[in-house]
Amino acid sequence: MSEPSVSLATRYLGLKLPSPIVVGSCGLTDSAEGVRACAEAGAGAVVLKSMFEEQIEAEVGQMMAASEDPNWHPEAAEYISAYGTENAVGEYLKLIEKAKAAVSVPVIPSVNCVTPRGWGKFARQVEAAGADALELNIFVPTSDPDSTSADNEATYLRVLAEVNKQVSIPVALKMGYFFSSIAQMMRKLDAGGADGLVLFNRFYAPDIDIDRFQVVAGPALSVPEEMALTLRAVAQLSGKLKCDLAATTGIHDGAAVVKQLLVGATVVQVASSLYRNRIPHITTMLDEVRAWMVAKNYTKLDDFRGKMNKDAWPDGSAYDRVQFMKRTVNADQY
Ligand SMILES: Cc1cc2nc3c(=O)[nH]c(=O)nc-3n(C[C@H](O)[C@H](O)[C@H](O)COP(=O)(O)O)c2cc1C
Repeated sequence: MSEPSVSLATRYLGLKLPSPIVVGSCGLTDSAEGVRACAEAGAGAVVLKSMFEEQIEAEVGQMMAASEDPNWHPEAAEYISAYGTENAVGEYLKLIEKAKAAVSVPVIPSVNCVTPRGWGKFARQVEAAGADALELNIFVPTSDPDSTSADNEATYLRVLAEVNKQVSIPVALKMGYFFSSIAQMMRKLDAGGADGLVLFNRFYAPDIDIDRFQVVAGPALSVPEEMALTLRAVAQLSGKLKCDLAATTGIHDGAAVVKQLLVGATVVQVASSLYRNRIPHITTMLDEVRAWMVAKNYTKLDDFRGKMNKDAWPDGSAYDRVQFMKRTVNADQY
């Protein structure tokens, strides 16, 4: 008997994707070759390596420092500042064009920003270069005791509003988990015009080398246990927002993809599992999702997407604090 045909096609940010596995912004997507390898392995879309706000600032700073004239005419400084930006942006726009020429799946550039500076202009240029959508990775540092949470949250909404005013392509916002009311923040960003929320960014983690008294980088790659924060947030908010939800962090195999779809993710984004297992691991994960769907008699993702979100429990308790009360742990097991 022939197996039922299974479709992994989906929509994300209004775009058609052949599969729900999107390659997240990382070094694997910083060239047309990398982007092509991801698409050939079955990626539904590709988020390009981010352009960083600091990257632009650093380029401008170097040009300023290299000048022999100690008395900058303000207009000259303005010109150099604009030139530095054009340089960094120009290289990035070339990457977008090359990536678009290399693949037929959506190409989503990314900008990593910390302030509401002129991202609207960059967004227009990205759109003109052929981008299918834009991902804003916003991280407002929370270490300033004079900034209130309301100040910090307003920055996210200002950047989003500025970019949205300038472009007609969809805009996704990649955010961290650490808000005092993550659910309300997600709702505000949804209402503020985000077409998608990417949950959650995995921040650089500092560590200390106690022999050399140096600050060193923590682990660059995630482990599967890190998926829980995203799983819970997607389960709690899916079906309650207009925007799409892209689940990311700690998704390393087909089972993890299925879990995120079950709680209501529109797509997943992966990076670490491709560094650990190489890009063809996308094909393996998709095969695992397909095999599970066949075993469960599902033919398309919408047959089961969101089936296990919070609303699936009449009292809504499955993803909440009460689970700790039920849990008993025998220390001898460890
Ligand atoms: C080497 C490396 C480089 C990354 N660079 C970026 C980046 O430029 N912009 C960004 O938004 N995320 C970046 N990320 C974060 C990933 O897109 C992703 O959000 C994070 O790694 C969690 O997903 P994962 O568990 O599948 O790795 C990077 C991740 C890695 C491992």
